[in-house]
Amino acid sequence: MPGIVLVGAQWGDEGKGKATDLMGRDVDYVVKFNGGNNAGHTVVIAGQTYALHLLPSGILTPGVTPVIGNGVVVDLEVLFQELAALENRGIDISRLVLSSNAHLIPSYNRTMDKVTERFLGKRQIGTTGRGIGPTYADKMERVGLRVQDLFDSSILRQKVEGALMRKNHLLVKVYNRRAISVNEVVDELESFADQVRPLVADTALLLNKALDDGATVLFEGGQATMLDVDHGTYPFVTSSNATAGGACTGTGVGPKRIDRVVAVIKAYATRVGAGPFVTELDDADGERLRDVGHEYGVTTGRPRRCGWYDAPVARYAARINGVTDFVLTKLDVLTGWDRLPVCVAYDVGGTIHSDLPASQTDIHHARPVYEYLPGWDEEISRVRSFKQLPPNAQTYIKAIEEMSGARISVIGVGPSRDAIIQRHPLIP
Ligand code: GDP
Ligand code: IMO
Ligand code: MG
Repeated sequence: MPGIVLVGAQWGDEGKGKATDLMGRDVDYVVKFNGGNNAGHTVVIAGQTYALHLLPSGILTPGVTPVIGNGVVVDLEVLFQELAALENRGIDISRLVLSSNAHLIPSYNRTMDKVTERFLGKRQIGTTGRGIGPTYADKMERVGLRVQDLFDSSILRQKVEGALMRKNHLLVKVYNRRAISVNEVVDELESFADQVRPLVADTALLLNKALDDGATVLFEGGQATMLDVDHGTYPFVTSSNATAGGACTGTGVGPKRIDRVVAVIKAYATRVGAGPFVTELDDADGERLRDVGHEYGVTTGRPRRCGWYDAPVARYAARINGVTDFVLTKLDVLTGWDRLPVCVAYDVGGTIHSDLPASQTDIHHARPVYEYLPGWDEEISRVRSFKQLPPNAQTYIKAIEEMSGARISVIGVGPSRDAIIQRHPLIP
């Protein structure tokens, strides 16, 4: 009865969608446990590119049951648009199950996300503007709306009234926007109720029973370790727990049922939005990583900030998530450099930190300490075994494996489903 958690080790966009797709053939359920349509996963299958935001990437694999867990925040308009687009491309969407406890993203929270960002000015987070932060804030403040509220008209209206009472004051008096009426919100949400009803279940019960029956369940994280609200570079983070613990709270499956924790990590580093990024490059190398790696956001199209591999971040991710296996993606992007810098520690005003400093201020002031590994020129995108890799690429993998706190079980050498080198099986 394996339960496998998959998370991002860095700042997102490591290739989690591809890794999920890779495992999809051997799993019965793929469960999204955190975040919402701030995620953007690209999966390339037989030359066809799919971009997923809210749906678990496992929806692309025939036979898999995709599940949206209680920890997710759901924009219903996006949900049905994404489902319709997949159906038009011949994907079977009939198995999707949605937790009755998942929270809804009402339109007023998309507005709140944008106006609060504008208000922060220079202290902006650079959010995706999808209403994620305000919806999780409502959940914690206990004024959120849940999927099940769609089926109780009077409760839904009471909750929307309660939430808008304060939000309208803010919108009108602080942010200089128009007030939102209870009716427009209730009408919009209720217009989806009939479509939502057949998808809804007690997903915690469903998943626990499935594990009892010997099914294989993959818990697919959105975002990543360094964007986790508790363990990331706060406040430059997303508003959910994107680390492995989030798989339990975000689905209602206990920690003893998790057998493996797989973290996806790029052979270099990227970040979208604001916040510290110690190995960031503002030079031609950074531009080259962006060009060769096609580092532009799937959700917002923003250019991603690029930098070298950061081993302290990898070790931190290994520790915080209890990583058993890394999937290292985009090794092919590093082809053609004479030498490859790898950050082995941080220098904060002359003090060397081999682990991430506990103080956020230190992280902001840290400078990378680099070790230089020899590069390779050979094209590697058709390589399918470790031994066929150029010797310097093998050395690069072994060196970062040694530094990063868990074995590297899969290596990505291209965007397509089959462009991988498998060293160890990910599923026990
Ligand atoms: P996610 O958010 O973690 O699912 O990752 P994204 O889909 O946002 O970004 C990862 C990008 O890298 C996508 O465009 C993938 O198609 C691509 N990709 C994944 N693995 C590899 C790889 O090994 N090599 C190359 N060149 N591209 C990859
Ligand atoms: P995937 O799942 C990369 C970033 C945003 C912003 C911060 C907060 O594709 O890896 P939010 O809208 O979540 O409140 O924005 O988090 N961010 C991501 N960056 N990949 C993602 O998802 C992200 N989801 C959010 O850019 O800096
Ligand atoms: Mg992404």
